[in-house]
Amino acid sequence: MNAEKRIRVAALISGRGSNMAALMEAAQKPGCPYEIVAVVSNRPEAKGLETASAAGIATAVVDHKAFDSREAFEEVLHETLLAFGAELVACAGFMRIMTAGFVQRWEGRMLNIHPSLLPSFKGLHTHRRALEAGVRVHGATVHFVTADLDGGPIIIQGVVPVLPDDDEETLAARVLEVEHRIYPAALWQVAAGKCRLEGERVVMEGWPVDKTARLISPTPDLPESE
Ligand code: GRF
Repeated sequence: MNAEKRIRVAALISGRGSNMAALMEAAQKPGCPYEIVAVVSNRPEAKGLETASAAGIATAVVDHKAFDSREAFEEVLHETLLAFGAELVACAGFMRIMTAGFVQRWEGRMLNIHPSLLPSFKGLHTHRRALEAGVRVHGATVHFVTADLDGGPIIIQGVVPVLPDDDEETLAARVLEVEHRIYPAALWQVAAGKCRLEGERVVMEGWPVDKTARLISPTPDLPESE
């Protein structure tokens, strides 16, 4: 694929940036239809900024604390994204709630990853809440961002078992592995034009689904009959 034709993606982060790094790594693979052109953080201390800089990717900080209103913050964020020529926006651990106005400007062009199997456990502390609820499977979701917080149309989900001795940390680590697989996959398909938002539906073309895949947790093995 011609390098000039790759879709320009900006990643929005607030912290560690491991999902951002997974998106960057996939961008190095042959035939990747996107490139990460910029990483923008609302927090100056976000670790992911260092990771991006070390990889030679442009970074910017739009510190929400410097603005009087959400709208004023978003105005500068929007201008920053445009200045980088972003065509798609990948929220990767971006911890700001966005107004409907901002979301509308990027409708169908902004993705988010959420650490739960949506629509379960929207919002914060998803792993703690999954443990409290006693679910046997948990996971992560990549979705298009809409004004409905964590409620946008779903692109891809990954599922992991919840183990009897899990705590928040062990469960988060298992889910994070899945996040790092599903986010690049989703961005790849969206950038390739094989997955798009039409109204409130995600339309896929030529993205295979393994119909034999099953995850049953705990293992359902029964004794052999005599
Ligand atoms: C991830 O679990 C993501 O799903 C959630 O926040 C976490 C960010 O981690 N929204 P990282 O910054 O990508 O390492």
